[in-house]
Amino acid sequence: MSVRETVLQALKDSKGQWVSGEALSEVLGVSRTTVWKQVRKLVSDGYEIESSSKKGYRLRVPADLLSPQEVLEGLSTQQFGQNHYFYYQELDSTNNRARELAAEGYPEGTVVAAEMQTAGRGRRGRDWYSPNQEGIYVSVILRPLLPLKEISRVSLLTAVAVAETLATDLNLHPLIKWPNDILINNRKIAGILSEVVTDMDSIEYIVVGIGLNINNFPPDFPHDFRTPATSVQAECQRPLPRVQILQNLLFNLENHYQKLLQGRFGDTLEKAKNLSMVIGREVKIDTLNGFLTGQAVDIDDHGFLLVRDQSGTIHTVMSGEISL
Ligand code: BTN
Repeated sequence: MSVRETVLQALKDSKGQWVSGEALSEVLGVSRTTVWKQVRKLVSDGYEIESSSKKGYRLRVPADLLSPQEVLEGLSTQQFGQNHYFYYQELDSTNNRARELAAEGYPEGTVVAAEMQTAGRGRRGRDWYSPNQEGIYVSVILRPLLPLKEISRVSLLTAVAVAETLATDLNLHPLIKWPNDILINNRKIAGILSEVVTDMDSIEYIVVGIGLNINNFPPDFPHDFRTPATSVQAECQRPLPRVQILQNLLFNLENHYQKLLQGRFGDTLEKAKNLSMVIGREVKIDTLNGFLTGQAVDIDDHGFLLVRDQSGTIHTVMSGEISL
């Protein structure tokens, strides 16, 4: 362990009690000035540490930072985040950073997380509201050896992983608005931006970016006529630890991704259908070829939405924006 990590661990172990600078310097075998410098660094990294010339140092609240120190301990994935976990206090967009890393050759399972984004991106050129330490803003690099047409499956499995994290671990009742918005009581709680770079007709890499509203206070959300927003805190009526939610999310995402690679997408598809808020409903979809109106009847094996129009013709929709 580095001096920084040992200081942090000692502060955590003291569970909110004061630890004297002298005791820390003796245990670590470093000067009190070194301890003080490490504490200052921890404070600038976002840890809330009180200092008193008489009593020493005290970690005020359990840290809920998405730093590798917090997230990797207790992360039970096999691969996702284990070897390459990039963490930033501030980024323009985790997807942008993940794309750069993917272009540099970083492998599948590389994770990029940030405490805030200054230019968080949503689908269709929209912004993603990303205030400091309130949400989870994370991107994962995937390099599946799959034909290009399978990309929709990846978006859908990500939506299932997010919904499962909210349902199983937090007892919430999220639904998926195809292709990959996650809503609770008609309010959006999470969004997914999958960006693919292709090599002829195969996938070179996919960056899957997930934005999850955790400890936001809904009146703070920028006004959006299309979909009002909510957060985990608003739904559960209490603040929740982002670290644990991110750990569960990465675990669920890896699990569904592994199923896809092992040819077991059927399980995930079944869950996506059960969680769907559009199947059986009248929808209006803004597609690349214009608007389509009809009844959403199913999601096919590729993750495409099947819509029956008034004349009874079934349309296969690969991507689009649904209004209900
Ligand atoms: C949407 O619903 O429009 C998609 C929102 C995706 C937001 C996430 S936050 C992490 C990652 N980085 C980004 O810039 N966007 C995605």
